[in-house]
Amino acid sequence: MKKMRLGNTDEFLPVIGIGTWGMGGKFEADRSRDQDFVNSLIRAVDLGMTHIDTAEFYGAGHTEEIVGKALKEIGRERVFITSKIWPDHLKLKNAVKSIETTLKKLGTDHVDLYLVHWPSSVITVEETVETMNKLLEKGYTRYIGVSNFSKAQLEEAIKFSEAPIVCDQVRFNIQDRSAEENGLLDFCRKHAVTLTAYSPLNRMEFDFAVKKKLEEIARRRNAIWTQIALAWVVKKGALAIPKATSEKHLKENARAGDLDLSNEDMKYLESTH
Ligand SMILES: NC(=O)c1ccc[n+]([C@@H]2O[C@H](COP(=O)([O-])OP(=O)(O)OC[C@H]3O[C@@H](n4cnc5c(N)ncnc54)[C@H](OP(=O)(O)O)[C@@H]3O)[C@@H](O)[C@H]2O)c1
Repeated sequence: MKKMRLGNTDEFLPVIGIGTWGMGGKFEADRSRDQDFVNSLIRAVDLGMTHIDTAEFYGAGHTEEIVGKALKEIGRERVFITSKIWPDHLKLKNAVKSIETTLKKLGTDHVDLYLVHWPSSVITVEETVETMNKLLEKGYTRYIGVSNFSKAQLEEAIKFSEAPIVCDQVRFNIQDRSAEENGLLDFCRKHAVTLTAYSPLNRMEFDFAVKKKLEEIARRRNAIWTQIALAWVVKKGALAIPKATSEKHLKENARAGDLDLSNEDMKYLESTH
């Protein structure tokens, strides 16, 4: 599994991590398949996807409990954990409550990366960043970052933050290239901010023409088309965090982390005809 540097830090993360949206419920907790998801996470880490992405919002908090259960078996030290704070909780007092609840659920004394899940429409970017810096100072997290921040919002966050903003996690895949089109990807490259691509498989919704191209490159590379979709994200310089549960999907995704697309492959994939 190839690795990629996180921002300007000494940390190198596997190019393919594992997402957890839907594990243990989406907007509400669903406890009916906990052991399946725990097993998926253990398997993901064994296959090299040692970056687990979660959030306090997922499954109304239950997803973090599932990650916590998996961590007990995996061993905390083998995993890089990203979690996210919901924008309603960005006042410092609430933020401390959020991270402490998250840590309790995960069964650890710190996360590795803590992200602002969405920019708040009420709390300014300046106050948001101040809160995140305080959480960092208190040792709740090793790094801080943002998610769903536009280029302008990220620029503002960087301006107000004492500590580096090491990541902006946004939707990015070969079907939805808006992060590239609006200049965010370039901005991240220039400012040593890692762009983490969520929904890197676009939740498996691809136009016929895009899928056909992925299949063609997959045929040439003796790979599977979903692996080409993930390798495309990585070639763009972003980390990918596909969510997968079955053994088949986990294995396929992990192997995508060893693929290196050529410039010619990229040109073909990105051609408009
Ligand atoms: N920051 C944010 O606001 C935000 C928003 C959305 C997502 N995220 C994060 O990003 C993660 C990934 O995004 P996502 O879950 O939205 O979408 P995604 O990873 O693009 O797609 C997930 C879907 O793809 C399927 N899949 C995975 N690997 C596959 C393979 N090799 N072949 C065929 N199907 C495959 C999964 O099925 P199975 O589960 O059945 O394997 C699941 O249905 C989330 O889980 C979450 O951690 C963050």
